[in-house]
Amino acid sequence: MWGEQEAWRVSTAHLQATYPARASATLGTHGIYIGRDLSGGAAFVHDPWAAYNAGVAMGANMMILGALGQGKSGLIKRRALRQRLRRDRRVGITDVKDEYGPLMEAVDGESLALYRGGPTRLNPMRPGPDGTVADELMRGVAGAATGRALTPAERAGLDAAVELVTAAAVGENREPTVPELVKLLLAPTAGLTDRVVGESDAEVRKELRELGLALKQLVDGPMSGMFDGPTTAALNWNAPAVRLDLSQVRENLALGVLMVAWMAFLRQAHETRAEECERLGIPVPKTERDNDEAWRPAAIPGIAETWVSEYKLSRSTGTANLLAFHKLSDISAGVADGTAAAKLLDGLFEDTGTIVMFKHKTPEAAHETASRLGHGSTVEQTLMSLRQDQALWQIGPRLWHVHHETTAYERSVTYTDAAMQEHGTTRSPA
Ligand SMILES: Nc1ncnc2c1ncn2[C@@H]1O[C@H](COP(=O)(O)OP(=O)(O)OP(=O)(O)O)[C@@H](O)[C@H]1O
Ligand SMILES: [Mg+2]
Repeated sequence: MWGEQEAWRVSTAHLQATYPARASATLGTHGIYIGRDLSGGAAFVHDPWAAYNAGVAMGANMMILGALGQGKSGLIKRRALRQRLRRDRRVGITDVKDEYGPLMEAVDGESLALYRGGPTRLNPMRPGPDGTVADELMRGVAGAATGRALTPAERAGLDAAVELVTAAAVGENREPTVPELVKLLLAPTAGLTDRVVGESDAEVRKELRELGLALKQLVDGPMSGMFDGPTTAALNWNAPAVRLDLSQVRENLALGVLMVAWMAFLRQAHETRAEECERLGIPVPKTERDNDEAWRPAAIPGIAETWVSEYKLSRSTGTANLLAFHKLSDISAGVADGTAAAKLLDGLFEDTGTIVMFKHKTPEAAHETASRLGHGSTVEQTLMSLRQDQALWQIGPRLWHVHHETTAYERSVTYTDAAMQEHGTTRSPA
């Protein structure tokens, strides 16, 4: 009987042989202290880049899964806090619930708030350091605006229109803008219709018109003032942390477009910084882009595809993404057919190095996560019964059961309820 057996000690190396997928040697000492590895009691230290460089993880991107109120945001905040001592890291955070204010104060971060009629605009058409507008970004924005995948003609038309508008603006030494793009799509010039192969000019015009009208939503109505002109963000992109406060943005469409544009902004900021560092001969800081509440815009068609392409880029650009969802099926909520949804998840997981799983609320959600990662019913049950201060960490092929540790100081900065009472960070638009 179990109780009659004598207790015995083993090293993690022996335990690894007995439970190959569960216990393992540590990840090393590079990274942030997270807590205790419950299978061996050792300190659990993690850095997504170190795990990737060591060949353990398939990418530096991260995903957090877990039900409401289980500690997803708390972990994002603690990681940012503990990272503040590293000069070689930058964090960009999207804040949908206005809960990251105290953290920004603690790490000397910079915040930017977006709301209708506010002073700040983020122009998704701002060219990168190489002078071009990111095609995949604009496809993501257009997909979000149309609410469906773009047709081949629309893609061709959009890419050509973006190129034409960009060339004209760059010639005049200014940023191309979404209203200019909308105008061109609604009244295409011969230069544009020639680039889209269609049966007739009239047919091409009709197709581009639908796209133009969809994008017009970003210029008129409830979303006006947020994307429809050159970027006005006066922000120190070199701050240890930058936050985009989206708590005043109500529409999921605007939220999705802003999250996608923000990812591209941080990538651009990182590329500009990388060029500068190379010129000065100093190491380039890595940038992490944390998208808390990513489940909200996930239902918008096209958004998840943009994440997949951003994840792919992370290897070469030194930027990594973190997306937080309640459950796996949230991610493909915007994809109608099952095959495409499965393909999308495959694409995302190919470049996800670290998956942190908090408690799952339903057996379906637990089963979905466990089976995607190749685990059976034991992991499924663990996912259903995790305590609020514990999570399963899947890094490459290995799984850790980790007890997260939080200091009293961190609690005061990171616990939403306490933070709301002490700091009263909720702001109303001017
Ligand atoms: N380890 C913990 N022990 C006790 N309370 C905790 C712990 N972690 C978080 N909490 C409490 O639970 C609340 C919710 O945590 P958190 O905001 O991190 O969850 P979440 O997973 O991001 O939830 P949501 O999906 O609603 O955003 C926190 O405000 C805090 O008060
Ligand atoms: Mg949260």
